[in-house]
Amino acid sequence: MKTEHEQLEKTKTRLFANAHEASIQVAGEIADLIRQRQAENKPAVLGLATGSTPLRLYGELIRLHRGEGLSFENVITFNLDEYYPISPDHKESYYQFMHRRLFQHIDVPPENINIPDGTVERKDVYASCQAYEERIRAAGGIDIQILGIGRSGHIGFNEPGSSKDSRTPLITLDRITRQDAARDFMGEANVPRYAITMGVATILEARRIVLMAWGEGKAEMVQKAVEGQVTSTVSASFLQEHANAEFFLDGAAAGELTRVKRPWLVGGCDWSDELRRRAVVWLSGHIGKPVLKLVEEDYNEHGMGDLSSAQGPAYQINIKIFNEIQHTITGWPGGKPNADDTHRPERAAPFPKRVVIFSPEPHDDVFFMGGTLHRLINQGHEVHVAYQTSGNLGVPHEEARKFAEFLLDGQTLLDGLAESGADFARRVIAALESGDNAGDEPKEVRKVKSIVRRAEARAALRIYGVPVDHIHFLDLPFYERGQSRAFQLTGEDTAAVQALIKGIQPHQIYAAGDLSDPNSHQRLAFEAMEGALEKLRGEAWTKDCHVWLYRAARREWDIGEIDMAVPLSPDELFTKTTAVYKHQSQKSQVPAREEGLRESWQIAESRNRATARAYDQLGLAEYEAIEAFRRWRF
Ligand code: F6R
Repeated sequence: MKTEHEQLEKTKTRLFANAHEASIQVAGEIADLIRQRQAENKPAVLGLATGSTPLRLYGELIRLHRGEGLSFENVITFNLDEYYPISPDHKESYYQFMHRRLFQHIDVPPENINIPDGTVERKDVYASCQAYEERIRAAGGIDIQILGIGRSGHIGFNEPGSSKDSRTPLITLDRITRQDAARDFMGEANVPRYAITMGVATILEARRIVLMAWGEGKAEMVQKAVEGQVTSTVSASFLQEHANAEFFLDGAAAGELTRVKRPWLVGGCDWSDELRRRAVVWLSGHIGKPVLKLVEEDYNEHGMGDLSSAQGPAYQINIKIFNEIQHTITGWPGGKPNADDTHRPERAAPFPKRVVIFSPEPHDDVFFMGGTLHRLINQGHEVHVAYQTSGNLGVPHEEARKFAEFLLDGQTLLDGLAESGADFARRVIAALESGDNAGDEPKEVRKVKSIVRRAEARAALRIYGVPVDHIHFLDLPFYERGQSRAFQLTGEDTAAVQALIKGIQPHQIYAAGDLSDPNSHQRLAFEAMEGALEKLRGEAWTKDCHVWLYRAARREWDIGEIDMAVPLSPDELFTKTTAVYKHQSQKSQVPAREEGLRESWQIAESRNRATARAYDQLGLAEYEAIEAFRRWRF
C-alpha cells in the first residue's frame, strides 16, 4: 500500500544527503546498464543533458572510466538540446560543453555521439529535427534519459506551453531560461533566442528517465512537477505519465515537497521544537488566524491533532509558540548592552562586538541585511564587510564598457601622458566586442568588472559610514579561475577566509547560508567559511563567536525557521534601498518572472516588507520591514 506521501507524489522521488551521493547512484545505474549491454554485445543508448546539474554525474562517469575501467565503446549518446543558431565552436554551445565535460575524457566513439545541430539553415531545421528522431529510433530508442529541470519547469528546452505530443522541434526560449543563461553569455541580450530540443513525446519514449535536481532554486518546480497536475505549463509534470521516471533530489530541491515541508499533512511526525513552530506558523497562515486564536479543531483538521493531544491543549501550544516568535524580534542584532538577555536572540556582552559580514559577492550584504548592518554600526559595533568574490561574472558587458570608455576618455584628456592606460582600455573594449563568454574573456575584462563592483560596494557602504579599512575584498581564487556555476574550491580559498577571520577574531559572523545550488558561488563561499571555522575551532575566542545566516536565495527563511528578526523603520528601509541601488550593475539580474522587471532594490524592499507582514498576521507587532536570520552552530 502506498504511504500518504507516495499518494501525493505522482512521480517516484528519492532524497539524498547531497548532490554528490545522488550522482554516484545515477552513475552506478548507468554503469550497470553499460556492462549488462556489453555482456549481451549490444549498445547502451544514453540520453544526456547539459547544464550544471549533471556535472557531478559526468565527473563520476569519468572516474569510473579511469579508475574502474568502465568502457563506453558500446555507448550511443543523444543530447537533449542545443541552442539555435550556434556554432559548435562557440564556448557556450552544448557541443563544447559535452566534449569538455565528458566525451573528451571517455572512450565513447565519436560517431556514436549525437547532438542537435545548431548550424543548419532555418529552412532545413525541420528536416534536421526529423533526422534526429530517426537516429534515435534506429539506435533502438533511449535506455536511460538524464534530465535536469529549469526554473521554468522545462525538461530539455520544452518551455511552458509545450505539448505532450511534441517531437524534436525548434523552440523559442522562455525569458526565465534566458535570464538563467545570461551570466554564461555575458548578458541576456547575447543569449540565443531559440533552441532545438527533443520534444516531450521523444523524452517520454525513453525506457527509463532520471531527473536530477539540486538546490533550493529548483524546489518550487520540483514540487509542482511531482505533486501538481499534469500540465503543459510545467513540462516536467508530464513525467507523471511515465512508468519508470524518477526524481533524484538533494534536501534543498526536495524542500517544497509536502513530506519535507509539511510532514504533518502526510502522516505522523516526530514533533521537534522546530517542527512544532513551523507547523503552528503554517496553520496560522493557512487558515488566516493569529496564533493566539487557534483552537483545537484547527489543529485536528490540519494533521496536527497528535500535537495538540500530546502537548496541548491548543491554547498552551499557541502561547508557547507566540512567545518563541516574539523572542526572535530584536532591534539589537549585536545584543542589547546591560539588558537581561535571557530571551534575546543575541547575548548582551561583550559590548561592543567585532562583527564580520561575509558577502559572497558585492550587493549580497546590503540586499539581504543592509538594515541590520545599519543597526550594528549605529549601535557602536566594529563592523567589517568581507566580499568573498569579486563578482565580476555578474557584470554585463555594457557596464564594463562604460568604465573602459571612461578610462579611454580620461586618458585622451591627459593626452600622451599614459598611453598604456589607453591601450589597456582599447584592449578591453576590443575583447568586449569579440563576444567572449563569462569566464573566458581576457583577464583585463574581468579586472574591469571587478573594479565596477568594488566601486559600487564602496558607494553603498559609504552610506552607512563603514570605514574603508573595514571593507575587505577577498577575490577568492575559486571564482577568479572559474566560470559561472563551474567552480572548484581549494585550500587557498579556505586559507584566505581563515586569515581574515583570525585577524579580526569576531564575536559575530553574518554569512549567506542556505542549502542552495551546490554549483553556485554562494554555496562555495559558504563552504570556504565553514572550512575556515573548522580549522579555527581550537582557538578559545571561537567559543564566543555566534554565526548568523541570512538566506541568500530568492525566498526569505520561513517564519517558523527564523531565530532573529531585525525590524527596520521606514527610514531605515529607505536607507537600505538606497544602498542596494548603488549596485547599479546588478539591476538586470531579475530573479523571477512573477517579480517582473523590477530592480533589485525593489525586490529587497518587498521581501523585507513581506516578512514584516507575516509577523503581523501571526498576531505580533506591525513593523514596516524585517530582515531575518538563522543561527548556525559550528
Ligand atoms: C540541458 C537542458 C535543461 C537543463 C535545465 C537545468 O540540456 O535541457 O533542461 O537541464 O535547464 O539547468 P541547470 O542544470 O544548469 O540548472
